[in-house]
Amino acid sequence: MADDDWPPGFFDRQDRGDDADFYAPPRLVTHIDDGAIAAVSELYDELGVPDGRVLDLMSSWVSHLSRKPSGGLVALGMNDVELQANPMADQVVVQDLNVDPRLPFDDASLDAVVCAVSIDYLIHPVEVLREAERVLRPGGVAVLTFSNRCFPTKAVRGWLATDEDGRVAIVRAYLEQAGFEGVTTALRTKRRRGGDPLYGAWARSI
Ligand SMILES: C[S@@+](CC[C@H](N)C(=O)[O-])C[C@H]1O[C@@H](n2cnc3c(N)ncnc32)[C@H](O)[C@@H]1O
Repeated sequence: MADDDWPPGFFDRQDRGDDADFYAPPRLVTHIDDGAIAAVSELYDELGVPDGRVLDLMSSWVSHLSRKPSGGLVALGMNDVELQANPMADQVVVQDLNVDPRLPFDDASLDAVVCAVSIDYLIHPVEVLREAERVLRPGGVAVLTFSNRCFPTKAVRGWLATDEDGRVAIVRAYLEQAGFEGVTTALRTKRRRGGDPLYGAWARSI
């Protein structure tokens, strides 16, 4: 299946302008609260993400890893200032995945591909995740995390039109359509009054 198998308009966005313009100002901020960030780190640790070479897709100045990955970290995102400020990254790639979903890495060259609180901005998510599957070694893990906050003008319409359970189903479908099997999804934060929820979806490459 491809991205055009989704309902018409699913990947439309209110702001149809160039993503490069929207992401031009560096945002050296955190996009989820401390509890949600801790939940991302814990999930990465449980899945062994730091034990290899990691690609952080749609990255910024923080990658939410508990430690520098043993094989190094590639941070790919839109803003060079943010990416250069990422203390764990040993390689930085500025790339608009909505213009070019191909990942500039060899087949089976990475141990983990992660994407934190950003999958909702992709207009070709299945193509990008198919690329993630290609660059992962067999047994390597893809991990997507998401919450209930976003830049609404840049999120796809299908994401905004549903609720948290609906978003879990969307992310599962993205991964499955990209060729991942055995996808696991979970709410990783306890329900806290006012706290950001943090959902994870992950699968290993076969
Ligand atoms: C909400 S921030 C999350 C940043 C980081 N992953 C984190 O957890 O703090 C969204 C990120 O998605 C990246 N992004 C948005 N649109 C993108 C695109 N078309 N191609 C690549 N990266 C994109 C931006 O550079 C931005 O850093």
